[in-house]
This record gives sequence, C-alpha cells and structure tokens, in this order.
Amino acid sequence: MKRIVVLTGAGISAESGLRTFRDSNGLWEEHRIEDVATYQAWQRNQQLVLDFYNQRRKQLYEVNPNAGHMALAELEKKYDVHIITQNVDDLHERAGSSNVLHLHGELKKVRSTLDENLVYELDGWELRKGDLCEKGSQLRPHIVWFGEAVPMIEPAIALSAEADIFIVIGTSLNVYPAASLVYYVRNSTPVYLIDPNAEMIQGLKNITIFREPAGTGVPKLVNQLMKSN
Ligand code: APR
Repeated sequence: MKRIVVLTGAGISAESGLRTFRDSNGLWEEHRIEDVATYQAWQRNQQLVLDFYNQRRKQLYEVNPNAGHMALAELEKKYDVHIITQNVDDLHERAGSSNVLHLHGELKKVRSTLDENLVYELDGWELRKGDLCEKGSQLRPHIVWFGEAVPMIEPAIALSAEADIFIVIGTSLNVYPAASLVYYVRNSTPVYLIDPNAEMIQGLKNITIFREPAGTGVPKLVNQLMKSN
C-alpha cells in the first residue's frame, strides 16, 4: 500500500465551527499568546489559562468532524494514511482516522505539572485549580505552549521522509518546527496543498494547489486518489 502522510492545521476544522488562529476573527486576534499559551503565562495567571482552554474544550463537545476529516478517513480504504496534526481537537479520530499524531498536544487530555509523563483523559470540559495529579501537583492542559519542546517532532519527520504522497491542509505554515516538515519530503514525492489562501511553498517543486476550503478540496483530491493506481 502506498503511504500518504497528511499535515493538517486549524483550517481543516474551520468548517466544523472551530476558529483558526491567524485568520480574520482568529483566536490570536482576541487573546494574546503571552497571556494564554506560554509557560510564563501559566506561572503568572493560571485561572486565565484554564479559562481559555476550558472554553475551547467546551466548544469541542459541541462540534463534529466535517467532510474534510471524513474524506481522509475514507482514504484508508486504499492507502496507508498517517495524519500529523497541529490541531489539539479530536475531530480526525472522531471521523475514523486510525493514525493521528498530535504535534501540539490534545485538548481532552491534561497532565501533571510535576511529571510530564503523567497524562490523563479529562472527564468533561472543565479543568479547575486544585485538580491534582497522583503526585499531588496541579494538572495543566496537555498542550505544547510556545517556547516548549515538541516531543513528537522526530516521529513526524520520519513519517514525512517516507511519504509516497504528502498532503498539506489548512495551515499557514507559520509555526516551527511543524512548518519545516514539508522540507523532509522526498523531491520525487507529489505534494498537494489545500487552503483557500494557499501560497506557493518556497523550494517545493512537485506541488499541486487546491485553492479552496477543506470541505470541498479534500473530498475532491480523495476522489482523484481513490481512482488513481
Ligand atoms: N479550509 C482549509 N483551510 C482553511 C479554511 C478552510 N475552510 N479556513 C481557513 N483556512 C486556512 C487559512 O488560510 C490559513 O492558512 O487555514 C490556515 C490557518 O492558519 P493558522 O490560523 O495560522 O493555524 P495553524 O497553521 O494551524 O497554526 C499553527 O499555531 O497558534 C499555534 O499551536 C497553534 O497549532 C497551532 C499553530
């Protein structure tokens, strides 16, 4: 089976009702990264950080995967599909995708502030001050904040380097090291880019652009790939 590796960002979940970060009306227009998405922010004002992720987690229980997520799950009928997502939502898994690697963490999980290996599924949407790990430390969102290490980048690089087909969906490619993954793809590997605001990716030759939303662009590409040998 040919291996397809897919790099996704907030854009694939936009049509499910989850805001992106840098588009007009994006999350970073309303919240300062320094206030809600760094370890320093957590040390300075835990409640502000807890509220930010609690609201996003609450909304995640109110939305569903869209046609873009569903089409990627469908692709597994003919290909060995691996999704590398920057998203912290669980919409790929809920659409039925089997191999999903989260680079920036998962909203429905929390972890110990004392031992980062102690990771738990959160029951419900609300994480409170005083919710402790088994070692007695405050639990924090299981999210990779700006300035923190990205533990899953090595397996993501290995996957990208082995791709027979590489698909990029709904990411502005502004955040590293995630954005560097496109440069680990073999030159001979066809790359597809799906984004209504897509721009050419510097240095990539073998690229096809679908300048449209994921909800239409992904099913269109999947149809094409399911027909091809
Ligand atoms: N379908 C496809 N793409 C879309 C859609 C859509 N319906 N709507 C918007 N987009 C595109 C935008 O054009 C943009 O290129 O999705 C991209 C969203 O970019 P960002 O908001 O920058 O999100 P992302 O690239 O995922 O951000 C990367 O930054 O804030 C941090 O940790 C956070 O994982 C996130 C990382």
